Amino acid sequence: MRQTVPVRPMIHSVSTGDWGSLDGLALVVGRGGIGNALAGALAARTPGLQLLHLGRSSDPPLDLCDDAHLDDLRQRLRQAPPLRLVINTAGWLHSDGLGPEKRLQAVGRRGLEQAFAVNAFGPILLARAVEDALGHGQPAWFASLSARVGSIGDNRLGGWYAYRAAKAAQNQLLHTLALEWRRRRPAVTVTLLHPGTTETALSEPFSGGVSPEKLFSPERAAHQLLDVLSTQSVEGSGAFLAWDGSPIPW
Ligand SMILES: NC(=O)c1ccc[n+]([C@@H]2O[C@H](COP(=O)([O-])OP(=O)(O)OC[C@H]3O[C@@H](n4cnc5c(N)ncnc54)[C@H](OP(=O)(O)O)[C@@H]3O)[C@@H](O)[C@H]2O)c1
Repeated sequence: MRQTVPVRPMIHSVSTGDWGSLDGLALVVGRGGIGNALAGALAARTPGLQLLHLGRSSDPPLDLCDDAHLDDLRQRLRQAPPLRLVINTAGWLHSDGLGPEKRLQAVGRRGLEQAFAVNAFGPILLARAVEDALGHGQPAWFASLSARVGSIGDNRLGGWYAYRAAKAAQNQLLHTLALEWRRRRPAVTVTLLHPGTTETALSEPFSGGVSPEKLFSPERAAHQLLDVLSTQSVEGSGAFLAWDGSPIPW
């Protein structure tokens, strides 16, 4: 049997902002550009929340592709304050020579599996792991970063097969989850968020042609995402929203 890792050493208090009266625990998953900026922004906006910021390089680590890590998280949350906010920022677009496909002949099994493992299976398995800890009857938010390119209705350019399809799959999985939680966890709001093109390692190889006013710093993206998320309520659970709060077609 695996040892469970106590949650307390990873928690540190955070200070001011909207959501000022929220107390309990916030979980940010992913320690990349937007994940780190979100952790910083929460520190400035949610004085009552303790922050648990996990990723593959944290201690304890959380790799969304590792079931043992997800089981450990579930166990740790049993001893933690109620989970009021979860934001998943883990995502994969390229690594190790794999990445966005410009044409069908570039599509391969490894790229498809990697994209789906992180971008689609990751968020729904994270939701399963944290479900029992959410809210304890109080309002809670579960958000995950998607991408506009995951919209089928908005796809006019083609290409990027695996990433597009995996984000579309995430959208379907979390929209379905929102419908279930309306019945079983009626205080939890599920939201899919597109951060806008943001200057991070993920976008870096592809952001050359983006005009500076359309390329957000991670800090700006984080505050915009929190502005949108903090206005969401259970009535709108399951929405797919852009950084400015506008709905994105499925
Ligand atoms: N940047 C943009 O322009 C943009 C646009 C639309 C959507 N998004 C979405 O926004 C999210 C955040 O991206 P970002 O721009 O902040 O990119 P980033 O800096 O590359 O961060 C992505 C993070 O995901 C983590 N990750 C990858 N696989 C993981 C796994 N199996 N388990 C746990 N963590 C894992 C990475 O961890 P390691 O640090 O361990 O590698 C990395 O820290 C992603 O979902 C992305 O698809 C970004």
